[in-house]
Amino acid sequence: MKISRFFSVLLTLLVVYALVKWGIPTVSRQITGLPFPLPVPGTLIFIYMLLTVVALILFVTFSDTHMDEFLHPIKQFLRGNYGKLPRTIVLVVLPLLIGWQMYSSAVPKAQLPPSLRIQHPSSNFPAKFEDLHNPVANPTAADIDAFIEQARAQEVQLIPQVMADAEAWLENNEEEVHPLSFIPAAAMTDFLAQLESGKVDKETAKAALLEKNLFEGRALYAMNCRPCHGDSVAGDGPMADGFKLRPINFTDNGTIETIIEGYTYWRVSNGGPGLPTEATPWDSAMPEWKLNLSEEERWKIIMAEYELAQKTPRIPESH
Ligand code: HEC
Repeated sequence: MKISRFFSVLLTLLVVYALVKWGIPTVSRQITGLPFPLPVPGTLIFIYMLLTVVALILFVTFSDTHMDEFLHPIKQFLRGNYGKLPRTIVLVVLPLLIGWQMYSSAVPKAQLPPSLRIQHPSSNFPAKFEDLHNPVANPTAADIDAFIEQARAQEVQLIPQVMADAEAWLENNEEEVHPLSFIPAAAMTDFLAQLESGKVDKETAKAALLEKNLFEGRALYAMNCRPCHGDSVAGDGPMADGFKLRPINFTDNGTIETIIEGYTYWRVSNGGPGLPTEATPWDSAMPEWKLNLSEEERWKIIMAEYELAQKTPRIPESH
């Protein structure tokens, strides 16, 4: 059976809409393997539909026969060939609907006062996170001893994300150097000098270990957070302008400085999807990092985030 041109146009519009609205999110979910689909933004759906309409107009007006075929069912309908009752209903209901639309958009409405977004909602913040301390910023005596041992044996493991660079640097180095001298920090140089002389001071070793963690944290920040939060950690990364709720400026006094470390850790782990309803007048694009980063990686990034912003976390009140 041949479908008339009018209905094939209608069908094309419906199929394209369904593809964009439901097809793309379904496929995206298959591709990303994430537990949620990636919806197509409303403005993009509008653009796709507009392009489809333009293409269909070109297609229908291509020749007089196409045009006649397209208009045929419409003319038939208006002449009452499909029955007078359906025609009357459409001719009465359509103007009423448009009139009602116009009326409701023009009539003054009572508006809710604008609600300010709660920057740090805590209604679903689990109490057990309150006592968390950043393990990579507060290493234990055992951590420090282990670090000294590994440094002595030249066996300190850097995270795999920076390992390749460190190895390439070592290979290109003319002199025989300790692998840790890849990290350019005064504390590290002091520590390596002490290691050479055989008398290692725990405080210097601790400072060197902190520099190593910070170095890795900065690298992880650049790989994962920089696109949104920016090189300068001021919320001005290359992707930042794409979001209605802008990525947070960490150098602002009202952000990470006002929250305890456990809260920052919880926010980074759960992202926008983990926020309670009181935080959602505009939805947050902040990703759920527990899906992609290990606990240690998240703590290292948080350490670097505070350091880059030149801020310190809030100290919890004693209970
Ligand atoms: C896709 C963009 C995007 C990426 C990538 C991203 N963020 Fe965010 N982030 C946001 C947005 C948008 C907000 C602000 C909205 C909100 O409060 O949830 C935010 C908020 C935050 C906050 C809350 C600050 C506060 O004061 O409450 C923290 C902490 C944070 N991000 C850390 C990170 C870290 C760490 C990374 C990298 C592991 C990261 N973000 C990567 C978009 C992003």
